Amino acid sequence: MPSHRSAAASLLAVWLCLGVALLGVGAAPPAPPRPSSRCQRECGGVDIPYPFGIVGPGPESPDPDNCAMPGFGLTCNETGVNGGRTPFYYDLEVVDVSLQQGQARMKMSISTYCYNNATQGMDPVPWGLDLTGTPYRFADTNKFTVIGCQTLAYIEGAHTHEYTSGCVAMCRAESDGDARSALSNGSCSGIGCCQTAIPRGLDYYRVSFDSGFNTAEIHDVSPCSYAVLMDVSNFTFQTTYATLPGFNTTYGGVAPLVVDWVVGNQTCDAARKNSSSYACVSDHSECLDSLNGPGYICNCSKGFQGNPYLQDPEHGCKAPARTRE
Ligand SMILES: *[C@@H]1O[C@H](CO)[C@@H](O)[C@H](O)[C@H]1NC(C)=O
Ligand SMILES: *[C@@H]1O[C@H](CO)[C@@H](O)[C@H](O)[C@H]1NC(C)=O
Ligand SMILES: *[C@@H]1O[C@H](CO)[C@@H](O)[C@H](O)[C@H]1NC(C)=O
Ligand SMILES: *[C@@H]1O[C@H](CO)[C@@H](O)[C@H](O)[C@H]1NC(C)=O
Ligand SMILES: *[C@@H]1O[C@H](CO)[C@@H](O)[C@H](O)[C@H]1NC(C)=O
Ligand SMILES: *[C@@H]1O[C@H](CO)[C@@H](O)[C@H](O)[C@H]1NC(C)=O
Ligand SMILES: *[C@@H]1O[C@H](CO)[C@@H](O)[C@H](O)[C@H]1NC(C)=O
Ligand SMILES: *[C@@H]1O[C@H](CO)[C@@H](O)[C@H](O)[C@H]1NC(C)=O
Repeated sequence: MPSHRSAAASLLAVWLCLGVALLGVGAAPPAPPRPSSRCQRECGGVDIPYPFGIVGPGPESPDPDNCAMPGFGLTCNETGVNGGRTPFYYDLEVVDVSLQQGQARMKMSISTYCYNNATQGMDPVPWGLDLTGTPYRFADTNKFTVIGCQTLAYIEGAHTHEYTSGCVAMCRAESDGDARSALSNGSCSGIGCCQTAIPRGLDYYRVSFDSGFNTAEIHDVSPCSYAVLMDVSNFTFQTTYATLPGFNTTYGGVAPLVVDWVVGNQTCDAARKNSSSYACVSDHSECLDSLNGPGYICNCSKGFQGNPYLQDPEHGCKAPARTRE
């Protein structure tokens, strides 16, 4: 299972616990199992198309109706008081799922590094996310985003090699000594905000803060530093992210993260040879090798719409119905 953990005192505790969901072994069926029509396909306003599926109470629960492919099971949990529901992958909220792009958006906790008034020291709360052994990896459109006035944060990860990078955010350049005066809305270029790209194929990362850069001296305006790997397609820096009330509060503690997923870890050429596991079962579907690590996804052929992972003609890829005038 993926781990998504915080460790207040020790970074080592961000470590991993990984396991791979294996298919039950039996007499090889002529085609992959099909999901039952009883499966729930919506949760809290989010569409849950196959290969995703709701398999509560946990993502590895037995799935006699084959609602989800292994690794794509979600839970539909009650959140809030008025019975609202939200899909989760383990403890990560799932915002949306795209079959056409082979992507999903999840919410990831923001790592914080705050001045503690009581101890007069700094409290790191670093987070990490380990997706090794799952169908997911981080899309390379995410940016490691670091916010603060006296901050150096590192991202460590793994793809084919170990990987470490970092980002510095400062805002104390002004001679008047006010941390706020150098900041400007809409600009993430090192002043209060820094962003850096990540390599392809990354499926594990963790954050750490450099204790040599901290906000103890400026805690009345900027008590905290923040860092998170996030989808920046909608991100606009606000001066209040680096000062009070702060980025974490504005985002409710979580930031959206785009993950790419694959339905098998072979190439299309290799996957096509095994008809009992090949996932692109719809007529008029095609196979695409992932651009972000090993594996493949399916898509409807040009001019067709539907779900390439479903064989039945009603839900699989079909020519769009003509609209009446
Ligand atoms: C979702 O609900 C299940 C069953 O009640 C529970 O085991 C699980 O921890 C919940 N997950 C989250 C993320 O709240
Ligand atoms: C899948 O097909 C749709 C429509 O033809 C296209 O817009 C989309 O980009 C394709 N997806 C990928 C990952 O190429
Ligand atoms: C920290 O302490 C100072 C002075 O003791 C006080 O003015 C400030 O409000 C405190 N900040 C927080 C976040 O408690
Ligand atoms: C940035 O925008 C916020 C409102 O979104 C405003 O309160 C703040 O004063 C602006 N900061 C600057 C430096 O213009
Ligand atoms: C961007 O923000 C707008 C308004 O808050 C929202 O409707 C839209 O879904 C967001 N798009 C993405 C990709 O997050
Ligand atoms: C960040 O936000 C989360 C959720 O609101 C909260 O639990 C956490 O205490 C906040 N951390 C800081 C340092 O503000
Ligand atoms: C990837 O392939 C290995 C064997 O080569 C298999 O054990 C594992 O389950 C596969 N992982 C996924 C996510 O399909
Ligand atoms: C084909 O896929 C099935 C189901 O995943 C698996 O049990 C079988 O070993 C595969 N066959 C070959 C030749 O790889």
